[in-house]
Amino acid sequence: MMRQAGRYLPEYRAIRSKVDFLTLCRTPELAAEVTLQPVDILGVDAAVIFSDILVVLEALGLEVTFEEHAGPRLSRTINQASDFVPLAHGQIAESLSYVGESIRMVTKELNPRNIPVLGFAGAPFTLAAYAIEGKTSREFLAIRKLMRTQPSEFTRILDRLAEAVAEHLIAQIEAGAGAVQIFDTWAGILSRRDFDQYVAGSIQKTISMVQQKHSVPIILYVKNSHHLIESLSYTGADVLSIDWRTPLQEARRNAGMHVAIQGNLDPSILYCPPSIIQDRTRKMLLQHKNPGYIANLGHGILPDTPVENARAFIDTIKAWRYE
Ligand code: CP3
Repeated sequence: MMRQAGRYLPEYRAIRSKVDFLTLCRTPELAAEVTLQPVDILGVDAAVIFSDILVVLEALGLEVTFEEHAGPRLSRTINQASDFVPLAHGQIAESLSYVGESIRMVTKELNPRNIPVLGFAGAPFTLAAYAIEGKTSREFLAIRKLMRTQPSEFTRILDRLAEAVAEHLIAQIEAGAGAVQIFDTWAGILSRRDFDQYVAGSIQKTISMVQQKHSVPIILYVKNSHHLIESLSYTGADVLSIDWRTPLQEARRNAGMHVAIQGNLDPSILYCPPSIIQDRTRKMLLQHKNPGYIANLGHGILPDTPVENARAFIDTIKAWRYE
């Protein structure tokens, strides 16, 4: 599940009450501990390393703060690639070495139990959206304006981010991540034509840089991706993770057979009573009869989800057998 360690777990809140979010990310012992919580509490099949997509921007010289209930804020915004601090090759991995350290601690624990650890990173466009807007946005006017008025500078920004993201993912794989997920959460704001022209190349670049070094599966998530699925299927990703708006059968039709599909229960269904969660989860599972499917939510678990409802979701999946 996306955000499978998080505020819906009392065990997580107990640790979070003592440290702020970024300190938690940067302290491998604590990050490892919260990463393991959902594995033991819910019985999920994989651990998602506890970190955030915005740590790459910190490594590039943009300070990030998380205000309670306000989401992330950046200390400054950028509008050209040279606004990032110049870093030599290897320095991203070095300044984010705490993520690798957390992964090593978690894999040491989970390897003997045959449970893989997933690494992740933000995609260039979504990271650029935070770097250019300075915060989460509704309309993303600043990044859209830059894309229209200074397309070559926009491309240089994505290019710089593609390299940084690849370096971060490679370091996570080398620390033990068995698969990695790339989040291009906001790319769905673009038309397919603009996505193909301005953004697809940056995802392809990240993916091919990782694949030149390693052959672990790469999962790509885009929210609101209904119109982009065919394009996403040609980025080189092995798995497309889709939100709840697109029926799985339709996602499969648009993606073709060369990628696996992940998703896509609406996280708000976990507010329903367990019998309804079971029913809706089974309906989700029924849509995908062939192999090459990973059951999941369509976006992050909501912070006030009852734990027993998250468990009903996981238990239904684990009990499921295709005829
Ligand atoms: O278990 C996991 O999935 C691993 C951890 C994870 C987090 N963030 C931890 C987190 C993952 C995979 C992310 C990805 C992430 N972060 C994305 C892409 C996925 C998505 O949600 O679309 C984005 C856009 C971010 C940026 C970000 N980080 C935002 C917008 C916020 C605020 C959200 C909120 O509800 O306040 C965060 C903070 C954050 N990242 C939390 C967690 C558990 C909440 C921190 C807390 O207060 O304890």
